[in-house]
Amino acid sequence: MSAVSSTIVDAAAALEAGRLVAFPTETVYGLGADAENPDAVAAIYAAKGRPQDHPVIVHVAPGAALEYWCADIPAEAFQLVDAFWPGPLTLILKRASNIPDAVSGGQDTVGIRCPSHPVAIALLQAFKHGRGGIAAPSANKFGHVSPTTAQHVRDEFGDDARLAAVLDGGQSEVGIESTIVDLSRLVTHGPVLLRPGHISAEAIAAVIDQVPARPDAAAPRASGTLESHYAPHTPVAMQDTATLAATLARLADAGRKVALIHYSALPATRAGVQLPATPEGFAHALYAALRAMDGTGADIILVEAPPQEGAWLGVNDRLRRAAHGSSGIVHGLINNTTTF
Ligand code: TXA
Ligand code: MG
Repeated sequence: MSAVSSTIVDAAAALEAGRLVAFPTETVYGLGADAENPDAVAAIYAAKGRPQDHPVIVHVAPGAALEYWCADIPAEAFQLVDAFWPGPLTLILKRASNIPDAVSGGQDTVGIRCPSHPVAIALLQAFKHGRGGIAAPSANKFGHVSPTTAQHVRDEFGDDARLAAVLDGGQSEVGIESTIVDLSRLVTHGPVLLRPGHISAEAIAAVIDQVPARPDAAAPRASGTLESHYAPHTPVAMQDTATLAATLARLADAGRKVALIHYSALPATRAGVQLPATPEGFAHALYAALRAMDGTGADIILVEAPPQEGAWLGVNDRLRRAAHGSSGIVHGLINNTTTF
């Protein structure tokens, strides 16, 4: 019998006692609570400063019974579970009647996923003997950049007394949040891609023979689909490779301090960080880079816009949302009409 570390046992006990535990997943770190304890779930919302009607994802152990959590489960859900779990795919399904509606912000659906990070799996197996569910949004304040290291979580929540432990599992491999597919309205609307991620629409289509559609107005709400989300405090702008140099020159002329995130080879004199030029490498490093650049005191974070190809969909989605809220101030900075 392999010994489970006391850290994991303690963390599982804290969850069972209704407290919060932050834990690593392969996508980003989660802020976890017992999904069947409405008071514990409410503590997540309070700690994050998140609106009460935003649903959270329920994380389950490998081999967990979908039927316990979900109702009216279509065959496609089991096909996707077989193909991608444990892994970065969240399914939206009808919620089983015994599951408190606190986890889904009052909606009749539930978001569910089985993460592949070994620490997350160990925690899920220790918690309620592997039969519990851990409700966990990303472990960041509402609207802010998701954490991909334990230190990021500590930076977000400091010594918040609600948080019993932050489990450290190193840097999250994938680096952006899970792909979310809504199967709750399959018969009438087909599968819907609520949030793009590492598992692509094409990979999903290859399993269920239907390409997930982009969300329509009636699709279930998802906070990660708000126009402004995943944002650092510093204004963010995306610039095509071709216009990047000219924009940098203008900002320098105007005396602006720029933090640059790029993937093309640029002259070494530029202050900033170069990320890998692959969608996987870029996603893995993106949030840590945004946080690091946010801490430099720069006036603006300039990001070299990635290619518009399908494999970059998840990264482009996160960057667009990171930049959305600051589009006005960025326009002023680049055109030198903003004064401080
Ligand atoms: O990779 C991930 O999914 C990470 C890790 C921790 O697992 N979690 C994560 O959680 O990104 P969060 O709360 O930051 O984003 C979850 C997204 C939100 O956009 C939420 O609205 C959506 O999932 N969601 C959860 N349950 C849902 C439901 N029943 N219907 C529609 N959207 C739902
Ligand atoms: Mg989030």
